[in-house]
Amino acid sequence: MLVASNRGPVSYTVGEDGSLDAKRGGGGLVSGLSAIGSDADALWVCSALSDGDREAVRRGIVGAGPEAPPQRGGGGRRAGEDGVRMLDVPADVHADAYNGIANSVLWFVHHMLYQTPLEPVFDAEFRRQWASYETYNRAFAEALAEEAAQGAAVVVQDYHLTLVPGMLRELRPDLRIGHFSHTPWAPPEYFRMLPDDVAGQVLRGMLGADRLGFLTERWAEAFTACAERFAGGLGGTRIGVHGLGADAEFLRKRAHEPDVEERMAALRQEIGEGRRTIVRVDRTELSKNIVRGMLAYRRLLEAHAEWRERVVHVAFAYPSRQDLAVYRDYTAEVQRLADEINAEYGTPGWKPVVLHVKDDFARSLAAYRLADVALVNPIRDGMNLVAKEVPVVSDAGCALVLSREAGAHEELGEDAITVNPYDVTGTAAALHEALSMRPDERAERSKRLAAAATALPPAQWFVDQLEALRG
Ligand code: G6P
Repeated sequence: MLVASNRGPVSYTVGEDGSLDAKRGGGGLVSGLSAIGSDADALWVCSALSDGDREAVRRGIVGAGPEAPPQRGGGGRRAGEDGVRMLDVPADVHADAYNGIANSVLWFVHHMLYQTPLEPVFDAEFRRQWASYETYNRAFAEALAEEAAQGAAVVVQDYHLTLVPGMLRELRPDLRIGHFSHTPWAPPEYFRMLPDDVAGQVLRGMLGADRLGFLTERWAEAFTACAERFAGGLGGTRIGVHGLGADAEFLRKRAHEPDVEERMAALRQEIGEGRRTIVRVDRTELSKNIVRGMLAYRRLLEAHAEWRERVVHVAFAYPSRQDLAVYRDYTAEVQRLADEINAEYGTPGWKPVVLHVKDDFARSLAAYRLADVALVNPIRDGMNLVAKEVPVVSDAGCALVLSREAGAHEELGEDAITVNPYDVTGTAAALHEALSMRPDERAERSKRLAAAATALPPAQWFVDQLEALRG
């Protein structure tokens, strides 16, 4: 079995003495795979993203070293001890494919993020980047073709690699090829914004798979509609829906380790005695709608003076995709607005917004445990695991304010307080409702949310996909 994704399960840094330090990432896919066990002869093909990764490739730790010649189609493990093979495509090709096409075009299309009077502009620069995206996808297809044993199952992940299934199908018709989208899929009226030939390539690339997986019915239906309108239908490709859930066992255990307790104590200090908390934890990502969330919080303080001094917005906005100017600008805007609200409403003993921007998983868990209200208001989101994780971890049960545009809403909508992510006034009202919820009702709802959130834990999510692909 092989997995392919842009970001792999491990990343390396070079220490001062030249040694390589490996750091395992989190996320559903990593925990899903690890549940299959180390004897499963799985290989994960991903990109070398850091200097340390590239060094690990050079040293033959995560890829074909010079002394390990490829054995085409032999299924011979050429990857490192970790079962990981990193592809060191030229940095400019990766930058064009990842920053230029995947994150600035395909991500924007599926999350409907363009400000359309000025963008997108599909010009010669776009065409150049698109050629890199093809090269990048081909590098994956060729590596997978080289590594896979006869009849092996290959699961390709996400919008970075939409062309891989079609390319791989041509190289290795014997393989079982799956693709899984962790993002939404754009409706046809938005998707058709892409140049026709590019839209066709993306769809045909995906349709090279035996089976396509999506997080919700809504995204699966959108893909099917695009395939029917622009690619003559699904052909022989099957579609499946697998809603990734939270990993309750891992989270509950991890959330009670000493480093989390320490951070809870520090956070309590920052928040102050007896105050309610509205918690959000995100990558600083345009689609997460952090700015409108803060505007809604400001509106809450304005419209409901009774909450002043009695509530704190704990907002963790971790750096993401900082090579892109719009992300840097967005990060600055989040910071500016937090400062503005603190200047406007803060008092000597009360800081209305506690914003942290340094990624710290233990601190995220600490905030989950302290949350009275979780604010998850994305413009559009494939699933959103924070919405699922907070109710699982929160100590006293939390109220969830949840965007109707998050995939998680399909599973959690009944016990959440639903918001239209663009409606700042409505979101402020939802925050007020959440803060005012009776403790017993809040606890009951939180329990039901946690049950729904953990219905499909990562291991089962992954096994289901694999079985469906093989079946
Ligand atoms: C989303 C995507 C993932 C991606 C993650 C982090 O969840 O679906 O494929 O890895 O964001 O983004 P990054 O650009 O840092 O990999």
